[in-house]
Amino acid sequence: MMDGTIRLADYRPYPFEVTQVALLFRLAPGATRVRARLDLVPRQPGAPLRLDGEELRLISAAIDGEALGGNDYLLTETGLTIHAAALPEAPFTLETEVEIAPEANTALEGLYMSKGMYCTQCEAEGFRKITFYPDRPDVMAPFQVRIEGDLPVLLSNGNPVAQGPGWAEWHDPWPKPAYLFALVAGDLVAHPGSFTTASGREVTLNIWVRPGDEDRCGFAMEALKRSMRWDETAYGREYDLDIFNIVAVDDFNMGAMENKGLNIFNSKWVLASPETATDSDFERIEAIIAHEYFHNWTGNRITCRDWFQLCLKEGLTVFRDQSFTAEMRLGPVKRIEDVILLRARQFREDQGPLAHPPRPDHYKEINNFYTVTVYEKGAEIVGMLKRLVGDAGYRAALDLYFDRHDGQACTIEDWLKVFEDASGRDLAQFKHWYVEAGTPRLRVSEDWAEERLTLTFEQSTPPSPGQMEKAPRHIPIAVGLLSPNGDEVVPTTVLEMTEARQSFCFEGLATRPVASILRDFSAPVILERAQNGAERAFLLAHDTDPFNRWEAGNALARACLMEMAEGAGPDGAYLDALGPVLADAALDPAFRALCLRLPSEDELAQALHAAGKIPDPDAIHAARAALMRAIAQRHEAALSEIYAAMAVPGPYQPDAEPAGRRALRLAALALLSKLDGGARARALFAEAQNMTESFGALSALIALGAAEAETAAFRTRWQGDRLVMDKWFMAQLAYCPPGLAAGLARDLAEDPLFDWKNPNRFRALMGGLSANHAGFHDRSGAGYQFYADWLIRLDPVNPQTAARMSTAFETWRRFDPGRQALVRDELDRIAATTGLSRDLSEMVQRLRG
Ligand code: ARG
Ligand code: ZN
Repeated sequence: MMDGTIRLADYRPYPFEVTQVALLFRLAPGATRVRARLDLVPRQPGAPLRLDGEELRLISAAIDGEALGGNDYLLTETGLTIHAAALPEAPFTLETEVEIAPEANTALEGLYMSKGMYCTQCEAEGFRKITFYPDRPDVMAPFQVRIEGDLPVLLSNGNPVAQGPGWAEWHDPWPKPAYLFALVAGDLVAHPGSFTTASGREVTLNIWVRPGDEDRCGFAMEALKRSMRWDETAYGREYDLDIFNIVAVDDFNMGAMENKGLNIFNSKWVLASPETATDSDFERIEAIIAHEYFHNWTGNRITCRDWFQLCLKEGLTVFRDQSFTAEMRLGPVKRIEDVILLRARQFREDQGPLAHPPRPDHYKEINNFYTVTVYEKGAEIVGMLKRLVGDAGYRAALDLYFDRHDGQACTIEDWLKVFEDASGRDLAQFKHWYVEAGTPRLRVSEDWAEERLTLTFEQSTPPSPGQMEKAPRHIPIAVGLLSPNGDEVVPTTVLEMTEARQSFCFEGLATRPVASILRDFSAPVILERAQNGAERAFLLAHDTDPFNRWEAGNALARACLMEMAEGAGPDGAYLDALGPVLADAALDPAFRALCLRLPSEDELAQALHAAGKIPDPDAIHAARAALMRAIAQRHEAALSEIYAAMAVPGPYQPDAEPAGRRALRLAALALLSKLDGGARARALFAEAQNMTESFGALSALIALGAAEAETAAFRTRWQGDRLVMDKWFMAQLAYCPPGLAAGLARDLAEDPLFDWKNPNRFRALMGGLSANHAGFHDRSGAGYQFYADWLIRLDPVNPQTAARMSTAFETWRRFDPGRQALVRDELDRIAATTGLSRDLSEMVQRLRG
């Protein structure tokens, strides 16, 4: 097909080996020169040499010192092909020189500039905007880099070799694919540190930031050291260079990037102080620092053969960072947070027009596949593998993976084989998780007779784009049984479901137990269980599995809200069931805070749609607000007590314990605000000494529609701080009364601080609007129209971010015909825009379905 679709089935190895790369950069904002010398070994006689290259001005090309003539090669918009006739049969050297313009690079892919600083983003296919090269992950080579430029700090991958005024040389001995290349040059200051590895290697650590930000790096530096230690103890993996650099950059399309020895971060995920970052920011920073560091082994030393295998490195590395956070903080709370995110975002993706397998088999633009499915569902699959083979089996499989594949570019097949070889198990059926899209529905029924409990499960996975029929999956279902007095009579056991329908028996039970099913959310499925409120309340009070304890309360809240969205009043049984949880001082405050967190409006729309109903965003919003008020009324005394008792004295610490207290306190505040008109929130806003409380109070007031003074004060205080102002833009839109959202978005887009070319600022505004469920989906279509206008405007400047933000439209088929027609019009309008990027046009095509 000539429509630009890339297919896994078409994979072929590269016909040359690259044994060494030497790069010379002469930096200049408008005209940077890049000289590249590639040592190549032909592997298939007669093959032409095809190099990727985009937006490069070719200055010269030579083979073994001989300049190429015009008949020797073909130069197109996408690359350079040197005809076989012009190539030696023996190993040879190719030298090219190109000119590029980093200051004109607004797409933030390749070499670009951010406030006078040069930096790169090469994953997935940005290196081809730097020089002609086989820009594919299975071509791995050691790199030598010389940078010349009139800037004090000049960085690249690997170890420093030599430097002088205006130049520096770096050598990365570890063969790597081009997507891990990085270069940074600028007026930067280091927050230094050091680390001694388990085997005694001294590693210099630096976090490089713009002058003025150096006092906000301490937390990230400590998180880095914890990550390095954890990878040694949990996975036996040591760092492998003399130096590890992290750079914070303000203009960045993603969260961060694991370039070998030179991680580049969105400054949002590095810089933190108590005054400017919230508790959840601190937690995310620690997780992202860990994630990028862990990629050194899972991603860099062992990389992906092709981009279809992206979840090989991303699913595993997310699983690793989740395990790390679970150990650094409260494990059960982390698990619940991860599942909330998975169900809100990945289940939503899996049920809409953008559904794709964790390992897709075709794409047009790979940047559109850095998704929650590849990352978060990819991590769930690793978690299931671990549950199936056990902790020791998992460690053995990972040891084998590192042993067998170090230095290679691998596939999902290689990964599964390692588990098969280490455990002796057959994982052929398990592989469906990787290659099929869709969230399985798991229906369970119970039968009790003669001291025997029988659980019968039925699974089915709905069709997804391009995949109509789904085979039964191999599903690990963790189950425990509780006696009516709350004792655990059968501890957690993992049932392995492999059939479409399958029964499991528990014998010799004196009384009928209550089953706790899918403990710890042991598989990413939708569990359908006919369960009454009394049973759920029992599990909320007694389940020994913390995830399922929370889940019972969550299921109660969801059922209650779904009924309220259709006109019912709040369910008294749910309100009653919350009482003991609130009062139980033995429960972690962070856990109690999660129990007070109601399902989001978007999740409720998802649940209503799954139940065959047409969700009404206004009714859902009203139901949620009404339930918050009802909870506050019913538990006002307990919530006031919590609000007083959970105050954290003394200086701010970002640790899990005080953060959990603040989370519970702010959850109580949000509820109490529905009764006190915002009095407590206003007081807290006035006295708060940290961003967590200040922002929590502001958010509660915004939700009341009573934050005018505080919003203005916040702006006055923080207008010079980019990261804090992102919060200001986001929160006003995300939390304001829905009827105001679209109009407010228009006003905020006029604010002189709305720098729309900065991805963080763009995401704050558009993401704030789309997070306001009833506001974005306003029946007038004003939200949709505003959003589409901005996607069209951003696309020519930064296609990657425009395409990513278009996912806000992925739920449109849930809604009534009127809303559907409005969204369809906007999607058609975007599709009809001339010169639309490959990124956004692929997304719109898939969204229109
Ligand atoms: N590998 C990076 C990470 O997971 C993300 C890079 C995303 N790049 C992209 N072009 N979408 O840490
Ligand atoms: Zn990653």
